[in-house]
Amino acid sequence: VSGFDPAWLALREAADARARAATLLETRLARRRDGAPLRILDLATGTGSNLRYLAPRIGGRQAWLLTDVDRRLLDTLPDAMRSWASSRGYRLDRGAASIAIAASHFHCEVATLRIDLAQGLARLPVRGRDLVTASALLDLVSAPWIAALVAACRAARAELLFALSYDGRVAFEPPLADDRPVIRLVNRHQRTDKGFGPALGPTAPEVTADRLRREGYRVLRRASDWRIESDETELQGYLLRGWAQAASEMAPAAAERVNAWHARRLDRLSQGLSRISVGHQDLLGLRD
Ligand SMILES: C[S@@+](CC[C@H](N)C(=O)[O-])C[C@H]1O[C@@H](n2cnc3c(N)ncnc32)[C@H](O)[C@@H]1O
Repeated sequence: VSGFDPAWLALREAADARARAATLLETRLARRRDGAPLRILDLATGTGSNLRYLAPRIGGRQAWLLTDVDRRLLDTLPDAMRSWASSRGYRLDRGAASIAIAASHFHCEVATLRIDLAQGLARLPVRGRDLVTASALLDLVSAPWIAALVAACRAARAELLFALSYDGRVAFEPPLADDRPVIRLVNRHQRTDKGFGPALGPTAPEVTADRLRREGYRVLRRASDWRIESDETELQGYLLRGWAQAASEMAPAAAERVNAWHARRLDRLSQGLSRISVGHQDLLGLRD
């Protein structure tokens, strides 16, 4: 179990979809090969939200392999796909080892693989993929890990799409005096080991873009910031709680001050006076 709550992943899915840089896909779509399904590998898929965003936008025939270490999330995935498909009027057929999702403009074959990506990439089936993708993953991984992944993708001639990598910018409206020190602590917590070695945290977009260029990829980089409105109280509550926990963990001596900040933020939220934006970036690595 990786500790990512399926309820949290469900909560963030709408904010993610609103934030993502749709224009990146137009660039990729022009390049698809004739006829054959696009073969896509999704890393750290959670319950598959990256597929739900991408599949209808990519269009055509697609064969997806969705990977995660967390069996509980992978077990939730078929239900998440079923409710998404039925809400959109797509047809879903569940076979013994895969799911087929069909709509007028796309058709996906979806299989899953449980794999611990932190244990190295030897077991990761990159070869034969046209596109390797991940959303909300890169801040967890380390510089050597991303270097190894990009090298493996280059060897396989796969393109890369990394969505929603946190870049350390958080802005509150209205601001409070302790916002900055708390987010500074959160960003230090982001750099601690999440199983892959020292985590990239907010440096993930910069380090990954640099690595892609060194491996000969053409890199397109776009902001994909969350803009969370005052009525999105559940999502804000979840975020504020996570930030307060992370900040107190980094500076136990400041826990009381952090808790007071958390209480003031919740107070603004309950009054309908809280908007938050969170800096993210989307990266596309193209092979010309
Ligand atoms: C922030 S969630 C993002 C999930 C999904 N991509 C999304 O956008 O909703 C991070 C994901 O990384 C997965 N993860 C964490 N450590 C992992 C590891 N060592 N190997 C594979 N997956 C891992 C978690 O289980 C979780 O699903």
